[in-house]
Amino acid sequence: MVNQIEVIEDHGQLYTRALEIIADQLKDGAKVFGLATGGTMLPLYEEICKSDLDFTQCTSFNLDEYVGLAKEHPESYHSYMKEQLFQSKPFKQSFLPDGQSQNSQAEAQRYEELLKEKGQDFQLLGLGENGHIGFNEPGTAFTSETHIVQLQQSTREANARFFNSIDEVPSYAITMGIHSILRAKKILVIALGEKKRVALEALRSGTQTEQIPATSLQKHPNVTVLTDIHID
Ligand code: F6R
Repeated sequence: MVNQIEVIEDHGQLYTRALEIIADQLKDGAKVFGLATGGTMLPLYEEICKSDLDFTQCTSFNLDEYVGLAKEHPESYHSYMKEQLFQSKPFKQSFLPDGQSQNSQAEAQRYEELLKEKGQDFQLLGLGENGHIGFNEPGTAFTSETHIVQLQQSTREANARFFNSIDEVPSYAITMGIHSILRAKKILVIALGEKKRVALEALRSGTQTEQIPATSLQKHPNVTVLTDIHID
């Protein structure tokens, strides 16, 4: 069961706490950081950019990337990371899956091998409304490694806010698998807002089911969750 759940209603304080956890990781010698995108991470990256944290000796791996979007597309995760973090806080090396690869299957395998070789010391995670982590949708095996995934309609709808219309939201993505995520030594989940309540409750419940990917985190010995949701 995930028992390090910190409820902090004030978002400013919550992101300060997240920054503190990341700073502690750096201080403890973490060198490989797994990173996430999405709305939840925007204020965190803003805080990191304003801080004096130095990642120039570190490597980053992003969780996922859409299939079919050019790196330069404003909604690609390559663009997101460049704009929100990397141009202010460069890492020694930063990796994201190549969503434009001619052979996505081979690209997923290449990414997994690289990830295994370096190994995440730390992994940052948001939570999907349906309980997804990375783009691992309900039903994904807990043993999964980096793979291609067809995005659920609900995920495309949730992400349509970043595009001109839902039709522009890609249908496929390359994502680290659940097993790839769980290999990280330390995991920080940030889940804000009522829409995440069901997923958060499941994560805490003690039940592990592949129908709610976030419940796989209960298998991990070192997960901290920061949330503004009170659950009994
Ligand atoms: C992002 C990712 C996703 C998001 C999740 C929450 O790289 O892999 O799992 O973390 O969809 O998204 P937001 O923060 O927009 O609610």
